[in-house]
Amino acid sequence: MTGAALSLSELVVSYGGITAVHGVSFEVPEAACVGVLGANGAGKTSLLRAAGGLEPVRGGRVRLNGTDVTGKDAAARARAGLGHVLEGRRVFPGLSVRDNLALGATAVRARSSKYTVDGVLALLPELAPHLGKVAGALSGGQQQMLAIGRALVGGPRVLLMDEPTNGLSPALVNRVEEIIVRITEEGTAVLLVEQRLEVAKAVCSRVHILQRGRLVGSSTPADPDLDRDLQDAYLS
Ligand SMILES: Nc1ncnc2c1ncn2[C@@H]1O[C@H](COP(=O)(O)OP(=O)(O)O)[C@@H](O)[C@H]1O
Ligand SMILES: [Mg+2]
Repeated sequence: MTGAALSLSELVVSYGGITAVHGVSFEVPEAACVGVLGANGAGKTSLLRAAGGLEPVRGGRVRLNGTDVTGKDAAARARAGLGHVLEGRRVFPGLSVRDNLALGATAVRARSSKYTVDGVLALLPELAPHLGKVAGALSGGQQQMLAIGRALVGGPRVLLMDEPTNGLSPALVNRVEEIIVRITEEGTAVLLVEQRLEVAKAVCSRVHILQRGRLVGSSTPADPDLDRDLQDAYLS
């Protein structure tokens, strides 16, 4: 279990009597992207939110760089190095782009990182012309870039991303892929939840398939059986 940036073991997430995640285990190595694919309702968001401390777990452990953070809340996990790009584009619409980025910095103030606000703007130069605008005035694609930028400020060790390409144009989907590849090369681990197999194939070193809350397959993106396994998971 050493060497993993994020380790999930036997995670169980329930909502009242409904269990959305049934004992899922896998690891995200340092400086790598691991994908979780699955149909709507498979439990992807529940898994990611439980990893981030946004949803309580009924069972299992979450470890960040070897430290058990299962009992810690989302803010403590953020300080310990977990960043989130949540489902939908959760920016503060009434705040400027600059202030949205600065708020990202407060979560992880204690750590040093190349991803200062300026460092993030170097990674995402498309945000620079809009710093003074309120985030609500940005296009959907720009808001997604801002959500990614805000999560990166401070330099998380592990970034949790929930369908970051959802609703984006093909050009912006490629841009998000490029950003994920770049940040993993620069040392950030990424846990990526996706509906699009091609995105996961482009950026992940390992892909897990979630079906009704259980892992039903794990492979490398190059595995020729991946498409078929995923199709089975979507159809059954
Ligand atoms: N807050 C909630 N309360 C009750 N049930 C929920 C809640 N969030 C998700 N679920 C249920 O948990 C299951 C998994 O949902 P989710 O994790 O959102 O899946 P995915 O992200 O793969 O679409 C679904 O059956 C969904 O209806
Ligand atoms: Mg979801």
